[in-house]
Amino acid sequence: MARLDVTETFCQIAFPGHLHTQDSLRYASDFQFQDTDTLIVTYPKSGTTWMQEVLTLLFSRGDPTLSQTVPNWARAPWLEQYYCPEVLKASQGPRIITTHLPYHMLAPALQGSKVKVIYVARNPKDVAVSFYHFHKLAKFLPQPGSFGEFLDNFLDGTLYYGSWFDHVRGWTNQTRDNLNFFYITYEEMWQDLSGSLEKISAFLQCPLVAEKLNSIQKHCSFSNMKENAMVNYTQIPDEIMDHSKGCFMRKGIIGDWKTIFTEEQNLRFDQVFESEMGSSQLRFVWEH
Ligand code: A3P
Repeated sequence: MARLDVTETFCQIAFPGHLHTQDSLRYASDFQFQDTDTLIVTYPKSGTTWMQEVLTLLFSRGDPTLSQTVPNWARAPWLEQYYCPEVLKASQGPRIITTHLPYHMLAPALQGSKVKVIYVARNPKDVAVSFYHFHKLAKFLPQPGSFGEFLDNFLDGTLYYGSWFDHVRGWTNQTRDNLNFFYITYEEMWQDLSGSLEKISAFLQCPLVAEKLNSIQKHCSFSNMKENAMVNYTQIPDEIMDHSKGCFMRKGIIGDWKTIFTEEQNLRFDQVFESEMGSSQLRFVWEH
């Protein structure tokens, strides 16, 4: 099957052309946030869909109807994707908006805004592995080649959506801009979803009783989300995602990189990580 190899380039970063246009990317960078908006920010494969599900359920106070009847992209649209204006026009109540854009592209739009920003980071080694598998099924992304070749591109920051290092650094160094900002890792959510839900609901000022939080926790489990057609991407046609090549809800674990990285790849990764992120003050809670 042919690949959808259209590319949009904006600020020197390539984006899949079947979802992004120059207009949609400009719309995102000129966006006027409302103070009641919540913005989920991630580099791809870091737990975006998981956080979309968490927020949908928190805002609907544990009622799963929305999460089981409306696709994730229609209840937490990606700001930079072409359909976003239509979805937002039809939305009621507090809006959940998602983005993979780097900070510098949204900084002017966020200036002075009270929008609540939730940044989810994931161990970049697991991000690279997850992204590699995703490239095989997503026909709007280039063929990944061997894992070694793909990893080189990941470390060089030449993949679609740009560099993981720039993304994390950009978003987490913005404290000077006084954003209403919450940082969490995929690994924290994985190790303690219940505690993570409490922290997220406190940040959103959306307190819920323990019973509701327990029910949200169940709905957001990997096994439940894997079965939910509104988040598992099984409804996407084969021309866009080749489902014979794998599942979007692939493994949902931490440390999967150990099954694929060679010792040499791991050493090189650690060196690049140290030189790119060595001075960062971030909490990197990657492992048990
Ligand atoms: P894997 O490919 O490692 O399985 P994103 O939504 O940012 O594209 O991230 C997708 C990754 O998050 C996939 O990782 C997917 O399986 C994982 N994921 C999605 N929902 C999850 C959940 N409820 N629990 C754990 N992992 C989840």
